[in-house]
Amino acid sequence: MGKALVVYDSVYGNTEKVARALAKGLEDGGVDVDCVRVDAAKFDESSRYDLLVVGSPVHTWSASRPIKAFLERLKSVEGLSGKKAFALDTKMSRSRLAGSAGGEIEGKLKSLGLTIVKPHASAVVKGREGPLEEGAEETFKQLGTELAKMM
Ligand SMILES: Cc1cc2nc3c(=O)[nH]c(=O)nc-3n(C[C@H](O)[C@H](O)[C@H](O)COP(=O)(O)O)c2cc1C
Repeated sequence: MGKALVVYDSVYGNTEKVARALAKGLEDGGVDVDCVRVDAAKFDESSRYDLLVVGSPVHTWSASRPIKAFLERLKSVEGLSGKKAFALDTKMSRSRLAGSAGGEIEGKLKSLGLTIVKPHASAVVKGREGPLEEGAEETFKQLGTELAKMM
């Protein structure tokens, strides 16, 4: 059924929760998943996966520094072209003023030749440290199941 790598950054644990929920949905759909915090991600092994999911909290209207650094390192990885990809972010509001990490991540992954299989999804936190809005984890688990069907 394929292999997926879910890479996330998370300061307060909210992005980790939705990334892990999405990973669970992928697993329920039969996908073999490695879900890792960005500082533990072996970026040079990224091309061993069929699907790459990257999740970031929005920090100062964009992706977090560790996620930006991870995406930068992917430039040196061969064999990523044509692989599937999906981006997610967490932020304090759905207003455009909150900024976005998902769109930025998608742009970088596209420029590396990956195919965005579904537009990025955002989870909203009620305060800087959370908690997540009700139902966010269920929504992302469902997204994982949908992504599994696209593999
Ligand atoms: C340094 C910093 C900058 C932030 N900038 C924004 C921002 O520009 N827009 C926004 O909506 N939230 C912003 N936030 C709130 C984060 O999006 C929120 O802390 C995050 O979604 C929680 O995810 P986490 O628990 O995985 O860290 C910021 C948080 C931090 C720590």
